[in-house]
Amino acid sequence: MNLKFEIVPAAEIQIAEQAKVFNAAFAGYLVTFPEMDAAGMARFICAQGIDLCHSRFARSENGAFASFGYINRTGNFSRLAAMGTAPGARRTGAAAFLLSHLIGEAIARRDIAMVLEVFEQNAPAHSLYVRNGFREVTRLFGWRRQAQRKIDNVIELEEIPLLDATAMNTPTDFPDLPWQISRFATAKSLGMRAFRLDRTCVIISNPEVSLVRVHGFFGHDRGDWEPVRDLMRALTTKFREAEFFAPQIFPEQFGREVFQPLGFARETLNQFLMRRELSDSR
Ligand SMILES: CC(C)(COP(=O)(O)OP(=O)(O)OC[C@H]1O[C@@H](n2cnc3c(N)ncnc32)[C@H](O)[C@@H]1OP(=O)(O)O)[C@@H](O)C(=O)NCCC(=O)NCCS
Repeated sequence: MNLKFEIVPAAEIQIAEQAKVFNAAFAGYLVTFPEMDAAGMARFICAQGIDLCHSRFARSENGAFASFGYINRTGNFSRLAAMGTAPGARRTGAAAFLLSHLIGEAIARRDIAMVLEVFEQNAPAHSLYVRNGFREVTRLFGWRRQAQRKIDNVIELEEIPLLDATAMNTPTDFPDLPWQISRFATAKSLGMRAFRLDRTCVIISNPEVSLVRVHGFFGHDRGDWEPVRDLMRALTTKFREAEFFAPQIFPEQFGREVFQPLGFARETLNQFLMRRELSDSR
């Protein structure tokens, strides 16, 4: 029993209150998060596939919320979708206490492993996860390509329903792939569109605006990256006036095989996909 903190289920806390703690924890973070209100927090919870029934806060003796851990549970895997401690409560053991509680709950519901993504440059968080048994699975990189003026031959792409895209095969999926680029995230995504060339499909945000996010790929076979490159070449040619970016959640081989050959530049910050086995702790 920890005398300093008490565990509170996220389902018992008003979303606007959760947003306040979230804003405080992520103020001055490595990447800028927009200030959240209740609606923004609800959108974040939805986009991250967070299950409030498994997510927890740690409350300090003074009654203030010190730390939060949001869990997305997909299959028998828990993903720590977000964790943070309010600045005034840092280095008091709040995150360590909460994380070990979340791990205990995941073990109790017989999950196989817990996964998360963390910026390699975020030493406090990386150290917290290593101390709690997480190991690096792979590095995750982000990529960006400026709008182009050159006009190549435009190959027509077929737009298909998102749900059809999620039914296509993929050589790897969650939990070996970050959840955000998996079929599970695609199925829940808001405002995303799916474009197909032959058997391969790419998910992107609205291509008619100036900044387009690459969200993931489906339909290619293991080790066969050429169809993915052809599709991305066709896509960036068709929407050449847009800047394309892929957030820092793409494992290394996507960069080597797809983004780099098509002239994308690598973002400076990168993440680790980390995993902690739970089955041998039962
Ligand atoms: C990362 C974060 C959640 C740690 O929370 P915390 O409640 O201060 O962490 P704890 O006091 O429980 O510390 C647990 C362990 O984390 C590591 N740690 C925490 N802060 C650290 C720091 N400033 N430098 C190095 N290690 C640190 C240590 O290993 C520490 O163990 P120790 O105190 O025995 O050395 C907090 O710094 C935070 O909210 N940062 C901003 C948001 C963020 O980065 N979230 C994680 C995104 S993946």
